[in-house]
Amino acid sequence: MIASNRLPVRFTVTGDKFQLSQSAGGLAAALRAVRGDAVWIGWPGTVVPATLEPEVTRRLREDNLVPVFLTADEEEDFYGRVCNDTLWPLFHYFGDRLRITPEAWLRYVQVNERFADAILGRCGPDTRVWVHDFHLMLVPAMLRRRAPNLAVGFFLHTPFPSSEVYRLLPTREEALRGVLGSDYVSFQTGDYARHFRSSCLRVLGADSQPDSLDMSGRRVGIGVDPIGIDVTGFREVLRDPETARLFSQLEEQYTERRLVLGVERLDYTKGIPQKLLAFERYLEQDPGRARTTTMLQVLVPSRLESPEYRAQRDEIELLIARINGRFGQPGVTPVEYLHRNISKPGLVALYRRADVMMVTPLRDGMNLVAHEFVLCQSEPGPPGRWRGSLLLSEFAGSAQVLPGALLVNPWNMDGVVERLGTALELDGGERRRRLETMAKRVQDLDCKHWAEGFLSRLGRYSRRERGRRLPPDVEGEVEERLKARFARARARTILLDYDGTLRELEAHPDLAVPTPGIIDLLSGLVALPRTDVHIVSGRRRRNLEQWFGRLPVHLCAEHGYLARAPDEEWRTLLDLDLSWMRRIERLLRRVAADVPGAHVERKSCSVAFHYREAEPEYGAWRAHELLNDLGQHLAGAPAEILLGQRVVEVRASGVDKGVYVRTVFPNGKEQTRFVLGLGDDRTDHDLLDALPSGSVAGHVGGLLPSGRSHQGRREHVHVVGPGEVRALLAELTAAVAARSGNADG
Ligand code: UDP
Ligand code: G6P
Repeated sequence: MIASNRLPVRFTVTGDKFQLSQSAGGLAAALRAVRGDAVWIGWPGTVVPATLEPEVTRRLREDNLVPVFLTADEEEDFYGRVCNDTLWPLFHYFGDRLRITPEAWLRYVQVNERFADAILGRCGPDTRVWVHDFHLMLVPAMLRRRAPNLAVGFFLHTPFPSSEVYRLLPTREEALRGVLGSDYVSFQTGDYARHFRSSCLRVLGADSQPDSLDMSGRRVGIGVDPIGIDVTGFREVLRDPETARLFSQLEEQYTERRLVLGVERLDYTKGIPQKLLAFERYLEQDPGRARTTTMLQVLVPSRLESPEYRAQRDEIELLIARINGRFGQPGVTPVEYLHRNISKPGLVALYRRADVMMVTPLRDGMNLVAHEFVLCQSEPGPPGRWRGSLLLSEFAGSAQVLPGALLVNPWNMDGVVERLGTALELDGGERRRRLETMAKRVQDLDCKHWAEGFLSRLGRYSRRERGRRLPPDVEGEVEERLKARFARARARTILLDYDGTLRELEAHPDLAVPTPGIIDLLSGLVALPRTDVHIVSGRRRRNLEQWFGRLPVHLCAEHGYLARAPDEEWRTLLDLDLSWMRRIERLLRRVAADVPGAHVERKSCSVAFHYREAEPEYGAWRAHELLNDLGQHLAGAPAEILLGQRVVEVRASGVDKGVYVRTVFPNGKEQTRFVLGLGDDRTDHDLLDALPSGSVAGHVGGLLPSGRSHQGRREHVHVVGPGEVRALLAELTAAVAARSGNADG
């Protein structure tokens, strides 16, 4: 099932009649060719009066298309304000055109919800849902919430900008989390995927691997699938007699004149004024060129409901008029201009006749026009094969796919003028060599390859996810059952990690002090009859003592090395050889001195390198390097390396949170107590894995059960984050009170 804002066709409504035409743009062109028998859900392209909706729906159903109707307000806010005024300029680096209408975002959410409804209303358990483009960024997470096992993929047709630009978006977290509801997210180029990962890191604090990212306990694949063109379809058009006829017309019309062609949707990202200015400069250098060279600019109408796009059209028309006024002569029009859709044969004839194709966007996700030109120049068909050269902006995704293009920086006008001269003069052999090289890529990377690649990776990632049998979230029935068991139990033990479990992580550990709410929550828990609370932390005893010393809770510091029962003294649980510590501490301090924001923390039996406040990528890179060095420095020492959330810690071997848990439950069994453990990072696996059978192991945030946790019969549940942990503990406390209230009553 396909979901995109644009359907392959668009409606225009006049009175009580409607007309259908093909949608413009690369998304519609590529998907049209690969959809096969997939259901395609999208917007019919205009406001359809309620009286016409049944008829429009029926007409679309003939082609397996499903409409999501938008009201005029929705069209204005969702499509106009958010998609076209905010996300489009932002993703194309047009900060100066960025307009943010906070109220409109609500409508974006609602329309995304409508798409999710339409999808869920039509898919079965085995449907793969392929969501397209920036209009529908929230849909994957909405689907995931309502149908956790559905295979969902997301493809972005536009660039994904650098995190420095992306983070201007007020709703940046929500949009990223929306996309990350997918099993597989993919982009046109490796750069965009890299920007996406870096935005996830900087905006959400989510670390990733080159090909995936772990989010709330799920693995999301991240990939690159450059879109391609419908090679077979273009071949057919090349063979069409209508194309040959139009081609001979062009030959007759332009005779010896050289044709510089431009074809784009009228969009400010396409750099059309800059291109015209470059052509004007080319004519200025030698006005005689106006008689030998013609530029033909095809502008496909686009988004003309927006004043911004109308202003762009006016600017272009003025520029063209100026150039023609300056360099034209009777019978000579240096720049010809069409502002309408053109037929496929007409387009292909133009591609075939062009001497230079100028594709010079300021920013473009891919740009399929460049691919189409290359193919049409390289295939058998009307005469004049291997005739043209491609002038291509280095800011189009295509520049990374088409190795024979003459690349230009569209902002460097002199450079473009010079390259245009080179392109027009390139000798025949060279043109052919370049076209041949590119044509090979265009054929290999056609739209079938794109779709098959995407869908097979989506299948792979979603199968892997399904195979993992994630623990269920604590909500609904699961939560009710936990509450009932907790309230019924004769005695209860709760073991809690602190940082990232009970309390959100902060940039610096000293900032993550317990809030009064947390203290109240713990006080409430320990006040319950026969209920023990243990805080099992990696922190130093000083921290725990200071924060929780006055509460009747059990404290375990430094991952199980030190412990203290209420009103008792601290004791060590193990006898350790710590002779390696001084050496390792020196190494960690040396590295930290080089990494702004990093710091070293020394504890009784471990020493840690923290880099949460460092520049995230540099910090991660140095941490990685440190890991290699540690391997050598430790050689044989009784210590082990732990990777936490942006911390590398070296700790005496044999110490882990499991040691402590085993002192609490020396028999490894617990018949009468209800035992609940909660933790969020890898060091908590030891805690959860050591819980006696029959316990509940709560995995917080992205922590998945470790392989070992299959042993022992425990119930595994997932808790989204510290906020949800606190809410759960409050609910459990209330459940006991409610039950004893009932009993009293
Ligand atoms: N195109 C069109 N109508 C026309 C001329 C061209 O729809 O009158 C097609 C063109 O063939 C190409 C697509 O529009 O497939 C433009 O895709 P591209 O990736 O170049 O840019 P986008 O419009 O998606 O930004
Ligand atoms: C770009 C976008 C597409 C969009 C197309 C035409 O290619 O990535 O999602 O469909 O432009 O724009 P429009 O606003 O008319 O759908």
